[in-house]
Amino acid sequence: MPIYSISHVENVRVCVVMVGLPARGKSLIAQKIVRYLSWLSIKSKCFNVGNYRRLIATDSPITAEFFDPQNQDGLEVRQEAVDRAIQDMMKWFSDENGVVGILDATNSTRERRQAILRLCRENLIEPIFLESWCNDYELILQNIADVKTTSPDYQNKDLDFATQDFLQRIKYYEQYYETMDVSTDPDLTFIKLVNVNSQIILNRIESYLESRIVYYVMNLHIKPRSIWLSRHGESEYNLTGQIGGDANLSERGWRYAKKLPDLVLKSLGEENKHTNLTVWTSTLKRTQQTASFLPYNRKLQWKALDELDAGECDGMTYEEIEQKFPDDFKARDDNKYEYRYRGGESYRDIVIRLEPIIMELERQENILIITHQAVLRCLYAYFMNVPQEESPWMSIPLHTLIKLEPRAYLTLVSRIKADIPAVSTYKEKGTSQLGEQKDGNYLKSRDLINDSEMHKLENQAK
Ligand code: SIN
Repeated sequence: MPIYSISHVENVRVCVVMVGLPARGKSLIAQKIVRYLSWLSIKSKCFNVGNYRRLIATDSPITAEFFDPQNQDGLEVRQEAVDRAIQDMMKWFSDENGVVGILDATNSTRERRQAILRLCRENLIEPIFLESWCNDYELILQNIADVKTTSPDYQNKDLDFATQDFLQRIKYYEQYYETMDVSTDPDLTFIKLVNVNSQIILNRIESYLESRIVYYVMNLHIKPRSIWLSRHGESEYNLTGQIGGDANLSERGWRYAKKLPDLVLKSLGEENKHTNLTVWTSTLKRTQQTASFLPYNRKLQWKALDELDAGECDGMTYEEIEQKFPDDFKARDDNKYEYRYRGGESYRDIVIRLEPIIMELERQENILIITHQAVLRCLYAYFMNVPQEESPWMSIPLHTLIKLEPRAYLTLVSRIKADIPAVSTYKEKGTSQLGEQKDGNYLKSRDLINDSEMHKLENQAK
């Protein structure tokens, strides 16, 4: 079985120690790293000290005064929270073979960082410090707005109170915060992000895994944007149930292509209707034909977006594959993520070739991607944090435009289904027949559906 795992190659374990004042986007960055590495099958987990603190200090609601450095009780609880988080992380490294653990806390003083460094070294874990430093007041306020709407510390609290209280909490931390610097921390491995990524300072990045993490965080931005995903319109191969190939669109597929500009406009909404989208397709005809009526001038073809290569089964129907290669047919159903077609690819192979696409997608703003079922499943799995064993079985029907809106701690999804019929290319486990249970779609795809929006959009699309 092909295993892609950087850790197997290098046998490394890394602890990413977040550093930064509150409201510097640390948790967001930490969670994105975990999602990205997990998507690449690198076992990763985030240990958020705030969550431990909330478990310990349950009796009174937390206000800024709790974080006053003169507040002895507060200090004790906070020390216990960080100790417990580190203990659990070390246990996870040893008992569960964790590869990348992230300690998500302010870790504001050199003394604290030295203690973590010592512990990591004793346990043969590479520490990499990741500081998010920011003095852009607008950005900080934006982060506070995100924290306020998501943090359990401010549940049911008035918005103004929460903002003022959080600003006060930051002031307390500022009293003793020590930033990272090459002159004071010359021996530490660290990344310092200044105002998101307007400046990035790197020090002593050594291992391959560290450099992957560096490259990923360098590409992150926080501008609001949307990503639209669509499969190509129904193709002539879809009509005959054949997989692979480079067929043209069917008559209904062409109708979807003509309708797509309208669906995109509806999804953009009146106020954004002049947004100039970038369009990515694969190198196969059916995706380019689907994009051909879109009025945007930035259209790019990516080989990496081509459909899963079915190797010797290219051009066959599932019935033919079941008859000719029964063992392969069963092996694929048993482990669809790992199964590699004879002379072709597995889902895992697609994830590996999609990595540059994900990097580029993180850099991009509004973008529309027209590609294929298996590729879309893998892209979708990245944004929605779908586990490997589920992603090859997700439903991504034809003639449906999916909109993803990455937010601070989740990605919103909405789908617009065009009123143009198409065959189903979904194959359930254990059969060579195509088609899916009618109401299974959304459950399988783990969508976070914004119902009212979806219905509104669906009605508009009709
Ligand atoms: C928290 O308690 O919310 C964070 C603790 C810290 O990292 O300082």
